[in-house]
Amino acid sequence: MAAGAAATYFGLRNMGSMAEYNASVAATRSALKQAPETSDLIRYATLAANSHNTQPWQFKISDVGIEILPDMARQIAIVDPDNHHLFASLGCAAENLAIASGGRGKPGELSFSSANDGAVMFAFGGGAPVEPALFDAIPKRQSTRGDYEGKAVSSRDLQTLYAAAAVPGVDLVLITDRPQIGRLRDLVVAGNNAQIADAAFVQELKTWLRFSPRQAIVTGDGLFSATSGSPALPAWLGPVMFDLVFKAKAENEKYARQLASSAGVAVFVAQKEDREHWVLAGRACQRFALQATALGLKHAFINQPVEVAGLRPELATLVGLPERRPDLVMRFGYGAALPFSARRPTESVIIS
Ligand SMILES: Cc1cc2nc3c(=O)[nH]c(=O)nc-3n(C[C@H](O)[C@H](O)[C@H](O)COP(=O)(O)O)c2cc1C
Repeated sequence: MAAGAAATYFGLRNMGSMAEYNASVAATRSALKQAPETSDLIRYATLAANSHNTQPWQFKISDVGIEILPDMARQIAIVDPDNHHLFASLGCAAENLAIASGGRGKPGELSFSSANDGAVMFAFGGGAPVEPALFDAIPKRQSTRGDYEGKAVSSRDLQTLYAAAAVPGVDLVLITDRPQIGRLRDLVVAGNNAQIADAAFVQELKTWLRFSPRQAIVTGDGLFSATSGSPALPAWLGPVMFDLVFKAKAENEKYARQLASSAGVAVFVAQKEDREHWVLAGRACQRFALQATALGLKHAFINQPVEVAGLRPELATLVGLPERRPDLVMRFGYGAALPFSARRPTESVIIS
């Protein structure tokens, strides 16, 4: 009786369970039918990586294809003031959509339209190749923010990753050299220090954090603590604990450990600095992530050196592409899976 009252008092009863959460995300990741509805292809598109799990997209179905539009209500203005990540996220979703549709006998072509805010068009037709390994990886891919095992990736698998991520307009640099990874770690730490010292950055991040399974299920978006290997907590307690533990020193030590345990780092650098090329960078990184998943590898973004603008020139020099703007940074390696992240219901992202 007393334990029951205490559980109610501390909000434990209302926080939901991981079993409920896992069942809910499993439904969003169920395998595509042989002849899926267009809305089910869109569900696969939404399983793409996207910044802060904001899912900043809307899908418009027509006879000729599917348009992917930015949802400007889901901008994250502090960390992403020029919507770079927002358009990269659209690229990630577009790539999933093209692979999913091609895998179910409806290949198509992706293109960018700069009309209005900019949008990605997936037009049915054309002879894009079916990519079974990438297709199968779509519901299995996750950003895995844990420590990895420190094991190297064979040069053959590195080649496969490099080839899979080839998207015209985007250069990929793979870093596996330890001293170079060390220099990259220093940039991540410098970026982290700048971001954690910025109250507006931390405040914005907190609005996208989810602490209880129920909160994560109900919103269907955001960064749920359990997906990063942190404990699930009652929704009221999470922000309090976050303020206590989210400190630069501890975060920097964590990133240093995570990078030391990774097999390498992929840096994506588009050839131009505009929305069309940010979409292309997103497409390349999604392809890389899917191929990594197919090879049994895990991946996680470490974008601090591209988010803190002052660090970009140093990163560009480190990857041998001075004067260019690096777009995305992703570590990879062998490691254990974590709980999947949630998605909003597909109906809520389809517009007419
Ligand atoms: C453009 C972009 C930027 C991202 N930046 C980061 C980042 O800096 N750190 C991080 O941990 N995850 C980052 N992510 C990963 C997202 O948080 C992740 O994709 C989202 O929470 C959904 O989870 P999932 O990838 O496991 O499906 C980024 C993703 C994208 C597409």
